[in-house]
Amino acid sequence: MGESRVVSRAEALELGPGWRHACHALLYAPCPGRLFGRVPLRHAVLMQMRFDGQLGFPGGFVDPRDSSLEAGLSRELREELGPGAAPLSLAEGDHLGARFAETPQRLVAHFYAKRLSLEQLRALEEGATKAADHGLEVLGLVRVPLYTLRDGVGGLPTFLSNSFVASARQQLLQALGALGLVPEAELRRADAVSRK
Ligand code: APR
Ligand code: MG
Ligand code: MG
Repeated sequence: MGESRVVSRAEALELGPGWRHACHALLYAPCPGRLFGRVPLRHAVLMQMRFDGQLGFPGGFVDPRDSSLEAGLSRELREELGPGAAPLSLAEGDHLGARFAETPQRLVAHFYAKRLSLEQLRALEEGATKAADHGLEVLGLVRVPLYTLRDGVGGLPTFLSNSFVASARQQLLQALGALGLVPEAELRRADAVSRK
C-alpha cells in the first residue's frame, strides 16, 4: 500500500462515498504447548494461504448489502472459515485500526482482532474445510510461528519473509505488538532479520 495512514473506524467512515471498505480479522488463542517439548508456542494466531499465493487474514470486501462493517466481516468469515465462524460476532470494540493510501483503488482496510479459547480456535480449524470458499479463495489456514528458533532465523523471522497481501504483514506486526503476543524487541529483530 506504500504511504498508508492508520485512522480510527469513525474517521475511516467519514472518508465518504467513492471509498471501498474491506475488513479482515486476526483470531488468536492462548496456547500453552511447547514445540519439541521446549520452545513455548505462546499463542495460536490464524492466517490463511489465499488464492493469489499470498498470506492474508480471513475477511474481505464489505458490500452495499451488508448493514455494517462488522456484518460484512462476519459474512466474509462465514464464507472463508465455514459455519463455525457464525458465533464469533466481532464488534466495533474489536477494531484495531483502518489503513488507507491515496491510491486509485480507494480502498480502506479495516483490521480487527479477537481472542478465542484454544478449543474455539481448534473447532474453527477443524470446520474450515467445509467453508464455501475452501479450495477457492482460501487454500488453507496456517498458524503463525511466534517464536524464534536457536539459529535466530527459523520461526517468526522466516515466516515474515513470505509474500503478504496488501498491508497484512504490517497489520500482523502491529497486532502482535499491541496485543502483547510477542515482546516488541523480538518483533523488531524478527522484522529486521526477515528483510535481509
Ligand atoms: N488480508 C487480505 N486482504 C487485505 C488485507 C489483509 N490483511 N488488508 C488489505 N487487504 C486488501 C487486499 O488488497 C484485498 O485485495 O483487501 C482486498 C480485499 O480483500 P480480499 O480478502 O481479497 O477480498 P474478498 O472479498 O474475500 O474476495 C476476494 O477480491 O480480488 C477480488 O476477484 C477477487 O473475488 C475475489 C475477491
Ligand atoms: Mg472472501
Ligand atoms: Mg478474503
